[in-house]
Amino acid sequence: MRKTTREKIVILDFGSQYTQLIARGVRELKVYCEIVPYDRFELHSEIKGLIFSGGPASVHDSDAPRVDKAILESGLPILGICYGLQLAGLLLGGRVAKSEKREYGPAEITLKSSSRLFESLPKRSRVWMSHGDHLTRLPPGFRSIARSGNIDYAAVESEDGLFYGLQFHPEVKHTEYGKKILGNFVHNICGCRPTWTPASFVRRTVSDLKEQIGNQKVILALSGGVDSSVCALLLHRAVGEKLVAIFIDNGLLRSGEKEEVIETFRGKTGLNLRVVDASKDFLERLKGVAEPEEKRRIIGHAFIEVFEREAKKLGRVKFLAQGTLYPDLIESTSFKGPSAVIKSHHNVGGLPESFSLRLVEPLKELFKDEVRLVGKRLGLPKAILGRHPFPGPGLAVRVLGEVTEQKLRLLRQVDSIFIQELKRNRAYDQVWQAFAVLLPAKSVGVMGDERTYENVVALRAVTSSDGMTADWARLPHELLSGISSRIINEVQGVNRVVFDISSKPPATIEWE
Ligand code: XMP
Repeated sequence: MRKTTREKIVILDFGSQYTQLIARGVRELKVYCEIVPYDRFELHSEIKGLIFSGGPASVHDSDAPRVDKAILESGLPILGICYGLQLAGLLLGGRVAKSEKREYGPAEITLKSSSRLFESLPKRSRVWMSHGDHLTRLPPGFRSIARSGNIDYAAVESEDGLFYGLQFHPEVKHTEYGKKILGNFVHNICGCRPTWTPASFVRRTVSDLKEQIGNQKVILALSGGVDSSVCALLLHRAVGEKLVAIFIDNGLLRSGEKEEVIETFRGKTGLNLRVVDASKDFLERLKGVAEPEEKRRIIGHAFIEVFEREAKKLGRVKFLAQGTLYPDLIESTSFKGPSAVIKSHHNVGGLPESFSLRLVEPLKELFKDEVRLVGKRLGLPKAILGRHPFPGPGLAVRVLGEVTEQKLRLLRQVDSIFIQELKRNRAYDQVWQAFAVLLPAKSVGVMGDERTYENVVALRAVTSSDGMTADWARLPHELLSGISSRIINEVQGVNRVVFDISSKPPATIEWE
């Protein structure tokens, strides 16, 4: 457990869709911050300031989320955003009214008087509004510091310099000086120093892991994805060969994937890596199975069995490391978004509790973009850092219908041409994910003078920021044309290539 204290900002979450953006915004300013559901807040000495998030409720709703007024009198600087401002305003004796029309979208604010919150801001700037209610009377001891077209109290502050409130969202990129405003709050008003950096995270985590694990053995399922890779490197730095990383070849990997993992981790970092070839076992169990959920279930179970079997060979192991990230924890404790449901069936790597190992989760404070920065700091090669997400069930959900070795071989060739061409044309880093899918259909074609009757493959490339929603990537036609020609010319058994132009929702990113 952590011994040293550190400064932090706590965000009280009232259910805004933007709460995580606030946290990421604050962390980009190199200040550590945490999200806490509004009703689970506890005061302690590491907290240097509070942010009350926005939220969908109206303060006048009977079941509107409330906090104890005592929080407002804790002596900590507080920034209230939209709902957070309205709630604090009401609790402190102001009045809140429903707006005639909900203000949503871009607006302009004009500063009215100088405020530490707006230091170095021009008199006028663009902001992003999204609120139904607004303050119509200020609590005693408050003053307005900015107005916008429709409202006098677009931003307010208390005369004691502890409370600041905004009717707009500084965390959204459409607010021109949003980052500056958050920076003024956390650095100048709360007095937090910019110490949350990848280097300080690595130092602290490695020292904590050393203490927690001591001389015991830890195991980790290494997939070669960013999260498990960074987790492995952190643990390796902390406990060296006491970490045993297990890489399971389930026979559903892409071309060259296993070799890349071995080369990176065993070759370059000297990780204690065990590579288990379980491909025959997985493919045997998948024989004759075409239903997508059934395939996922079989793969999930097989993974756990193989992992447990390998772990037992290692003698006494006390810890199991997992690459759980901060958003997974927020989702499970705070307001559940749709992501919680989707992830439950994605969690192929989840191990049963009967496994009775103590969990180590060194990434549980990090957002995905922070994991990448930490990975970079630890020297993880760009090929792994920038890798597109790859689903746990692997190519099994990209060979539609029954999975066979022969279909996998064909799909690997197609996928590898697609990815090579995207990389060669500098399009790989522009998309969230790109892959090929083997359809359970044959089509008629003509090659030379011959009629062919062969397989159809679909190419999928999407843009997204978190995989929850996605749009199909507008790849240049010339690029697509080149890829299609290469596939049809080079991969025997494919005579047609189609490009998927569906967004998520209503489609999903994977086809199964
Ligand atoms: P869908 O297809 O649901 O996928 O739009 C959203 C994101 O999740 C990935 N995905 C998975 N990841 N295990 C995983 O670890 C899985 O079973 C799984 N299924 C889908 C998918 O590749 C996309 O990035």
